Amino acid sequence: MATLLDQFNDLKISDELAAKWEAPSNIAFVKYWGKIGHQIPANPSLSLTLKNSYSQTTALCYPSDRCEVIFKFEGKENQAFAVKIQAFLQILSKDWKFLQKLKFEVSSSNTFPHSTGIASSASGMAAFSLCLLDIIYQAAKLPVDQLFYIRASFLARLASGSACRSIYGGLVQWGQTSQSGSFSDTHATPLVHAIHPEFKNLHDAILIVSSEEKTVSSREGHGRMEDHVFAQTRFTQAKNHFQEILVGLKTGDWDKVGTIIESEALSLHAMMLTSPNPYILLKPRTLELIALVKNFREQTKLPVYFTLDAGPNLHVIYPDSVKDKIKTFLENEARPFVESIIFDEEGDGPRLC
Ligand code: PMV
Repeated sequence: MATLLDQFNDLKISDELAAKWEAPSNIAFVKYWGKIGHQIPANPSLSLTLKNSYSQTTALCYPSDRCEVIFKFEGKENQAFAVKIQAFLQILSKDWKFLQKLKFEVSSSNTFPHSTGIASSASGMAAFSLCLLDIIYQAAKLPVDQLFYIRASFLARLASGSACRSIYGGLVQWGQTSQSGSFSDTHATPLVHAIHPEFKNLHDAILIVSSEEKTVSSREGHGRMEDHVFAQTRFTQAKNHFQEILVGLKTGDWDKVGTIIESEALSLHAMMLTSPNPYILLKPRTLELIALVKNFREQTKLPVYFTLDAGPNLHVIYPDSVKDKIKTFLENEARPFVESIIFDEEGDGPRLC
């Protein structure tokens, strides 16, 4: 698989083992949209790990005559999730032969609605990857150390790209840049760059416009970047944004950071609108809420910006210093027009339960 994980190629698991982890979702400021080969990002990305939006997953595994998965989501058996985990294990089992003779019983729940553009695959796959690696570490009698998290991020990436960033708290980067450093395409790292106090403990209020399932999955969306006429321009834009946002984060420049965050959100959806097989995940209400946030910012001069994931729900990003004012604004002006609001903020990353 990779030198990072080769150590476990000859592992044997003959006992029943279990692990339980919580892993948060994340919201990207510079988006990962388009990949090269198997889960290698076409451009670097940067995200904020959340605190209140997370998955809690328990995995139990024991010897069996084949690789099998039973998945319970929010207490009910979920065949679609079982298939996803099984496909992930299948890929891993090319090197990790021991997976071919294990049965997994997984149960998971989210603190937020799934498949709505809140990155539920990020938290879900991060939580499962942590459980899987924890079980492997138990079998190999290894302590959970720094390398554990690097390996967990590597594994999570194979399951769902953005999941690799959910392994760490705070601002997290993933993907190689033109600058040398500890950037990697195969796993995420906490942002090593200096961050101005203005950007410590950022807030993300998620305005749920619709909690219906997305019509086009992110996997399919990434695929549609392959023969997208704007693909190379988009990757160049994201690479430039990544470098520029680091400057803004260092100098405390909200104008720069906020402009990039909003531009990234609109570029992501522009790629969907202009893909060879175009589709629209935005709703009319999303656009109304964007206008609401922009007007409020223009009138009050407060640093409040929007972003979007691959869905219609608006993420409103602002610093800790204005949290009460923004909460009042959203309660009064946005609450009547949305299904719900999740007030979230920067989190510390996964937790062993
Ligand atoms: O992790 P995936 O493969 O589901 O891709 C999701 C990509 C976005 O969430 C739309 C953007 C990002 O960088 O998180």
